[in-house]
Amino acid sequence: MATHTTSPSIALTSAGTATGRGTEWWRTAVIYQIYPRSFADSTGDGIGDLGGITSRLEALVDLGVDAIWLSPFYASPQKDAGYDVADYCDVDPLFGTLDDFTRMQTRAHELGLRVIIDLVPNHSSDQHAWFQAALAAPEGSPERDRYMFRDGKGPDGSEAPNNWDSVFGGPAWTRVAHPDGTPGQWYLHLFDASQPDLNWQNSWVREQFVDILRFWLDRGVDGFRVDVAHGLIKADGLPDYTPATDGGSMGGGHFNDTVLEPAISAEEPTPPYWAQPGVHEIYRQWRRLLGEYAGDRVLCAEAWVEPLATLANWVRPDEMQQAFNFSYLETPWTGPAMRRVIDASIDAFEGVGAPSTWVLSNHDVVRHASRLALTGENPQGAGIGPRSPGQPDPVLGLRRARAATALMLALPGSAYIYQGEELGLPEVIDLPDAARQDPTWFRSHGKKYGRDGCRVPIPWESDKPAYGFSSSGESWLPQPADWGALARDAQVGLPGSTLELYTAALALRRAHELGAGAASWLSGFGDAVVAFTNGAVTVIANTGTVAVELPVGDILLASEEITGGALPADTTVWLRS
Ligand code: NOJ
Repeated sequence: MATHTTSPSIALTSAGTATGRGTEWWRTAVIYQIYPRSFADSTGDGIGDLGGITSRLEALVDLGVDAIWLSPFYASPQKDAGYDVADYCDVDPLFGTLDDFTRMQTRAHELGLRVIIDLVPNHSSDQHAWFQAALAAPEGSPERDRYMFRDGKGPDGSEAPNNWDSVFGGPAWTRVAHPDGTPGQWYLHLFDASQPDLNWQNSWVREQFVDILRFWLDRGVDGFRVDVAHGLIKADGLPDYTPATDGGSMGGGHFNDTVLEPAISAEEPTPPYWAQPGVHEIYRQWRRLLGEYAGDRVLCAEAWVEPLATLANWVRPDEMQQAFNFSYLETPWTGPAMRRVIDASIDAFEGVGAPSTWVLSNHDVVRHASRLALTGENPQGAGIGPRSPGQPDPVLGLRRARAATALMLALPGSAYIYQGEELGLPEVIDLPDAARQDPTWFRSHGKKYGRDGCRVPIPWESDKPAYGFSSSGESWLPQPADWGALARDAQVGLPGSTLELYTAALALRRAHELGAGAASWLSGFGDAVVAFTNGAVTVIANTGTVAVELPVGDILLASEEITGGALPADTTVWLRS
């Protein structure tokens, strides 16, 4: 713990609690995303599984998180890494069994960790029994009406019903054949052709999902992360739509220095497949359903919707409890942009009584230890690879990532951490083309690298095969040769390591109840510095290129070593106020 003797003038402005109203656990929780394929493999087949997760949960307790969210582990042909679900109420043999899930959940609960699972309602797999039945049934049948089948345009129906593109590239429609082989109707898939969109205007579909939610709630899950929560309802008539810009593959925009560039905003028409008002009654029904269960179960929306004031509609008091703050994730590392997005987040979420959430990485974006040092445009989902322009400087990227995380974990509200970021893992840029598996890579014909680079299995022990990810040394994506120093065992107890920084930040966040606190801006440090108090902690983040003078105070946390009384570039400190 160090003290400073200098003191710039500081002034307090604006305040926000960011937790909304109430004391439920999810208002302040730090939630750790497990990507099951890449977390820990107990069978040696090179793909992570539920047994692996169970065996490694203590490490997450040591880290100090409150809950885990698991990306899909359901029965699935794995065309989109499990976001193509063939049975919503069973575990894919790749990941284990329902009993393995129960063992994992029981152990997590024993350790005090809540368990959130992924719900994928916008689309199923084309291998789901519902879609297979729809294919076998005649046009106009109840089975077909569970999905989005339409006749094609043109005299022989050979043109797609409208001009929509798939998020992953290529058309959003695929034509099916009649049993005699002649061409038939088309079905809509906003993502891969193996992921047909369900028809959420159909009450049978709604009833099935109520049963699916009950299935998992009865088994004791603490909540659901809801995939594509802005996409379930499409505009009547499915009108043509041409996006003005590439807002990123999930439909996101971003805050930059001068202007908010949302994909969904007053300036651009809302795409007929995103953010339709009809989605909200679905979440109201689910919220009522969760209310029947004890234990503050939670729904978190994955909705790439901007501006934040619109996203707040997903977390009104009778809808979901949380929504991922992708505006925050996409904000560049500059003082003005960071302050603006923090203010906008707190205003928007507090306005509806919901906690703000904060997130910097997940399985769909370039890891922030690389992203924050990119020099060129990088729309969400594009990924980076060896031929990408504006390659990130790894040293600068990690430094900024550590500073950005230290800033994020001091904010009031709930924060999400993506597995491996606590180790400072960078995006894996040089994956061989032949190893890539993201449908984005295939559907864009290699134009977009996609998301494999953030999904590489994580390192546990520096000197074990596959860095301890699997006993056999197998790994479904190749791990870099230089990840030994980043392995968890190489960082535990190592002063200055990224793992120690995260562990210390989480312990201090808990001790000072920062999640339930209120942020008050401090000024007087210059435009490039983001500075605020949260209760007894003063947080100062220098996004600029020159060091700034620090006020007097004990240093509780620093993202880089602090010598003397100055805060270097790309560094965040927490001081005792
Ligand atoms: C969002 C998920 O996070 C992503 O991984 C997936 O590809 C799409 N939704 C489609 O389910």
